[in-house]
Amino acid sequence: MRRELAGKRVILIGASGGIGRALATALVKAGSKVALASRTAEKLIELADALRDAGGDVIASPTDITKPEDRQRLVETTLTAFGGLDLLLNNAGVGSWGHFADSTEAINRTVMEVNFFGPIELTRVAMPHLMKGNQPAVVNVASMCGRKGMPAWPEYSASKFALVGMSEAWRGEFARFDVDVLTIVPGMTNSGFEKNWLRCEGKADLPFEKGMLPEYLAGKILEAIRANRTESVVGSEARRLLWFNRFFPRLTNWLIARKVKKLYAK
Ligand SMILES: NC(=O)c1ccc[n+]([C@@H]2O[C@H](COP(=O)([O-])OP(=O)(O)OC[C@H]3O[C@@H](n4cnc5c(N)ncnc54)[C@H](OP(=O)(O)O)[C@@H]3O)[C@@H](O)[C@H]2O)c1
Repeated sequence: MRRELAGKRVILIGASGGIGRALATALVKAGSKVALASRTAEKLIELADALRDAGGDVIASPTDITKPEDRQRLVETTLTAFGGLDLLLNNAGVGSWGHFADSTEAINRTVMEVNFFGPIELTRVAMPHLMKGNQPAVVNVASMCGRKGMPAWPEYSASKFALVGMSEAWRGEFARFDVDVLTIVPGMTNSGFEKNWLRCEGKADLPFEKGMLPEYLAGKILEAIRANRTESVVGSEARRLLWFNRFFPRLTNWLIARKVKKLYAK
């Protein structure tokens, strides 16, 4: 199946962030109608104005994905504005960089709420409307940490593994409603993500400035949506790591553990 993006009615959560802005811009360029959602109203309004100036049909709908009433309002506002829903892009997320031993239950719960419970409960609200949509799909933006748990990313890895697992289960379940489920597994992206982390206490060198551009990732995500690709690993280092881990899992774990020991040696 080839999915046409022109005229599609889309909810994009996490629209104000680096990857979200690039996605919103690319979707508008492709002719989709986009409900821009995240918590920060000013950023959404500024983005919506810029996209409207470029001819886009967009609305700004401030939403905290962790709040049930916000999730409900987002879906209702989108239905009122566009008359239906075809695509749900679960792109909101938060990171936390540091070892589990020094972390807290509060951080663990926040990461799980934003990266897992929020998107899946938003999907629950959106699902009855997606079922009536045109070539409908749920697109979950996970991470390479959702396919390989990484040290200093314990809560984040767990939240993205959970999202990937839920996506796999949904794929079988949603098929009978003709709603596709696509998983995106990006590597490091130069999006400003690191400025919003809950903790920044890891020790490895993480050169986010050398990561792929959000516009490149957005292009790959749109390509995956058009081609209806079940899972897309994007970014050369993510592809390399996941490939190596697949064929040499014990060696991968040994190399990772050795690096951590060196970094944390007194
Ligand atoms: N950058 C990377 O290297 C990378 C790699 C792999 C995967 N990812 C994933 O890509 C997605 C986008 O990340 P990004 O790189 O664009 O980071 P970002 O710039 O920090 O964007 C995160 C987005 O999530 C929104 N958000 C955070 N908490 C929220 C909440 N409670 N309710 C609603 N929205 C919330 C933020 O907006 P507000 O603060 O306004 O709410 C923002 O729009 C995330 O899921 C991330 O895990 C990123």
